[in-house]
Amino acid sequence: MLSIENLSFAYGNVQVLHNINMAMAPGEVTCIVGRNGVGKTTLMKNIMGTLRASGGDLSLNNVQLRRLPANRRAKAGIALVPQGRQIFPKLTVQENLLVGLQARTNRVKKIPDEIYDMFPILKSMARRMGGDLSGGQQQQLAIGRALVGEPEVLLLDEPTEGIQPSIIQQIGEVLRQLAKERNVIVVLVEQYLDFVHEFGHRFYLMNRGRSVADGATSELTSDLVAAHLSV
Ligand SMILES: Nc1ncnc2c1ncn2[C@@H]1O[C@H](COP(=O)(O)OP(=O)(O)OP(=O)(O)O)[C@@H](O)[C@H]1O
Ligand SMILES: [Mg+2]
Repeated sequence: MLSIENLSFAYGNVQVLHNINMAMAPGEVTCIVGRNGVGKTTLMKNIMGTLRASGGDLSLNNVQLRRLPANRRAKAGIALVPQGRQIFPKLTVQENLLVGLQARTNRVKKIPDEIYDMFPILKSMARRMGGDLSGGQQQQLAIGRALVGEPEVLLLDEPTEGIQPSIIQQIGEVLRQLAKERNVIVVLVEQYLDFVHEFGHRFYLMNRGRSVADGATSELTSDLVAAHLSV
């Protein structure tokens, strides 16, 4: 279980996260929804450790994470697929995947075959430059790179943003499989609500740096959406 308790964060003196309490379970896709600028990315970076919370606690299976830097959290089993993908455009697909091996605690130096089973395109394009891939292919590469480390917690920040429907569906199936077959804790920041309903189990709705509602994704009703999400 990934537990977040009273987590707070400020950029300088601008408080962006206020006493966030959340719990994400293995085998489930937990969705973080909310309008632009409410603090979703800031929350993901606080879980990964690239930003350090100013207060509160964070633990994975009762192991405290708050004082650990991002590289130690990666070894503890947390991986982030960042918003905007951020693959290395001047490295090949294979080299991009090899970067993910750094998160592993064992000495395995090979990209696991199952990454290519999940995203066959990465195999056929293994020697192409990351920057030559389409947006959807880059997103698959970013997810593949995170999975190379065999994370227990996979954080994804808006993976469907600007991506064609066929690849969105493929990504959803991979997330479903990771949760169901490998018991991964999947945390999905997502504004595309059809995707949340199709592939998500639970949701937290954020507004202005606070969690204002949560429940099963089937309970993410049009009333809630109208109150907190529509513009
Ligand atoms: N590096 C930064 N320095 C100062 N303020 C920042 C910084 N990054 C983000 N913010 C501010 O923090 C707030 C939350 O931003 P964040 O990127 O976490 O939102 P978000 O929910 O991910 O938005 P989006 O849906 O657009 O990705 C916003 O008001 C934003 O302007
Ligand atoms: Mg964001």
